[in-house]
Amino acid sequence: MLKIRVWDLPTRLFHWALMVAVMGLLVTGNVGGNWINWHMRLGYAVFTLILFRLVWGFVGGHWSRFGNFVPTPRGLWAYLRGAEPAKHVGHNPLGALSVLALLTVLAAQVGSGLLTDDEIAFTGPLVPLVSSSAVSLASWYHSEVGKLVLLALVALHLSAIAFYRFVKKQRLVQAMLTGDQPAPPPLPAETRDTLSTRFLALAILLGCAGVVFAVVSAGGAG
Ligand code: HEM
Ligand code: HEM
Repeated sequence: MLKIRVWDLPTRLFHWALMVAVMGLLVTGNVGGNWINWHMRLGYAVFTLILFRLVWGFVGGHWSRFGNFVPTPRGLWAYLRGAEPAKHVGHNPLGALSVLALLTVLAAQVGSGLLTDDEIAFTGPLVPLVSSSAVSLASWYHSEVGKLVLLALVALHLSAIAFYRFVKKQRLVQAMLTGDQPAPPPLPAETRDTLSTRFLALAILLGCAGVVFAVVSAGGAG
């Protein structure tokens, strides 16, 4: 079987940076104290990464585009009933759903974090813009609900990867590290991963960081 490029470098860097930042957020959020300063910075980094991934889902490499991996309900149903997906590379239909769920829950965690008040020393940057009941709701969601949903999704993510490794004998982690996956002929489309697509990704990332800076400053603290 030949190998083809599936995950471009920007998607791979996005993934491993997201993993490090989310782990840092779970630790700093639970340790609390002055670590909340780092918690907020890491939260802005995740905000930037999510925005980047949304844009990359439209202009990025072939298999990173939402249009090429988000399944139709019919495709998902067929996969759940045991049919092999037509294409053997990229996210499988179930994996695609977990990607979307992870991104959505992370976005909700960032959004609620921006509105969280710990009632001691730290307030999210957008707290001054909303009512106190909205702040209470966001703080409750951030600390009591979102964190648990996220932990459950990450556990599911890792279990699914282990299941594919040991039961279905697919090395998904290797693909997320090297970018390449084995593909049976006829070869499916290959992802473009060149210097110019990487520079494009960097420009998009900087643009996203600018948007995050503007949003965070909107509360008057920036
Ligand atoms: C906090 C921890 C993590 C988060 C939030 C996370 C999130 C994500 C997201 C959002 C994607 C979709 C990538 C994309 O299309 O842009 C993904 C895919 C993937 N992640 Fe993670 N991840 C985490 C930890 C890990 C770890 C520890 C591993 C490996 C041991 C891992 C391995 C993978 C693999 C192999 C894929 C591709 C799955 C596939 O082929 O469908 N992830 N992850
Ligand atoms: C994906 C991003 C984020 C994750 C995974 C996350 C996770 C967490 C966790 C696990 C806690 C501890 C909750 C507890 O048990 O008390 C926490 C607390 C906190 N987070 Fe986040 N957070 C994120 C983003 C943010 C952002 C962007 C901000 C603000 C800019 C923020 C502000 C806070 C504050 C102020 C607390 C302390 C709340 C309290 O002690 O009542 N977080 N976060």
